[in-house]
Amino acid sequence: QKRIGILTSGGDCAGLNAVIRAVVCRAVGTYDWKVLGIRQATQGLMSDPPQFIPLDLDKVDNLLTAGGTVLGTTNKGDPFAFPMSDGTVRDRSEDIIAGYHQLGLDAIIGIGGDGSLAILRKLAQQGNLNLVAIPKTIDNDLGSTEHSIGFDTAVNIATEALDRLHFTAASHSRVMILEVMGRDAGHIAISAGIAGGADVILIPEIPYQIANVCQKIYDRQSQGKNYSLIVVSEAVRTEEGEPVMSTNRLGQCRLGGIGQYLSDKICACSNAETRVTVLGHIQRGGTPSPLDRLTASAFGVAAVDLIAEGKYDRMVSWQNRQVVDVPIAEAIAQYRAVDLNGTLVKTARGLGICLGD
Ligand code: F6P
Repeated sequence: QKRIGILTSGGDCAGLNAVIRAVVCRAVGTYDWKVLGIRQATQGLMSDPPQFIPLDLDKVDNLLTAGGTVLGTTNKGDPFAFPMSDGTVRDRSEDIIAGYHQLGLDAIIGIGGDGSLAILRKLAQQGNLNLVAIPKTIDNDLGSTEHSIGFDTAVNIATEALDRLHFTAASHSRVMILEVMGRDAGHIAISAGIAGGADVILIPEIPYQIANVCQKIYDRQSQGKNYSLIVVSEAVRTEEGEPVMSTNRLGQCRLGGIGQYLSDKICACSNAETRVTVLGHIQRGGTPSPLDRLTASAFGVAAVDLIAEGKYDRMVSWQNRQVVDVPIAEAIAQYRAVDLNGTLVKTARGLGICLGD
């Protein structure tokens, strides 16, 4: 009988609990293993004693549709240079490895995006830990997989926001700007923009000119369409190529603010009345979409099966309508931006959507 750990690392997204449920269903229900849910990502393992929740079938009963992660997560603090409360920075990697052994784990399933998976892999290599990875990120920027958990839900939420903005924009003859997440990739913006009928989609992969955006607004006005919908990805820069960031009270720097920048610029070069909506973490919370539930379930089962086969240092991945597994190193090395020659960009252009260039 094996004893396995599972942790969620990095930013949360919809579908994480569905993965936890699937892992427990397979590991406990099929193989009769013990599953330990590690609290707060690697921080649960570095604590003394390690912090975990024993997971059985009853505990995961209601998790399929629950947003967030019952295990908690964090994207604060690289364990190799961990910020201590006294202001110093320490390498806590050996504490995490010790926590894994203290819990008597045979293997661990790590659910994360590229940054988290790179850290988990480094820890696994250093401590000879048996690691299997499951991809999650609303940004959908991980190579080697067509779906990462959380992306589809985020696109659904952004699309619904556009559907709603459409009517209020039309009623008031306004230009509505929707700023969406996605970090350095424009996957959420281009997918939701097409699905939600946007007139302009700006993504970090395509440099733009405000004049082109204003021209699109004029063209629509001259066709009698007195409102427009713009979707912009958070990492889009100013026209001059400067990043737009905001800093909070604690000095934490975050992408965001490009929507307001565009609003000011569009006001200055057109007669349009503009309003900005920043969708923010709404894209990460709440009930996962059916596709995210499906992917989470398939990934959870497949990850447990990899452990049963003794296949480690692998990430489960969705390719050509099935779950396969790839080396974790390969997945994190292949960053995926929006393909400028791909179907989505071609579709947007084909529909007459302005991409700003
Ligand atoms: O990587 C996921 C993501 O939601 C990005 O799209 C966004 O830029 C970032 O995380 C926000 O991070 P935080 O939750 O730390 O503000």
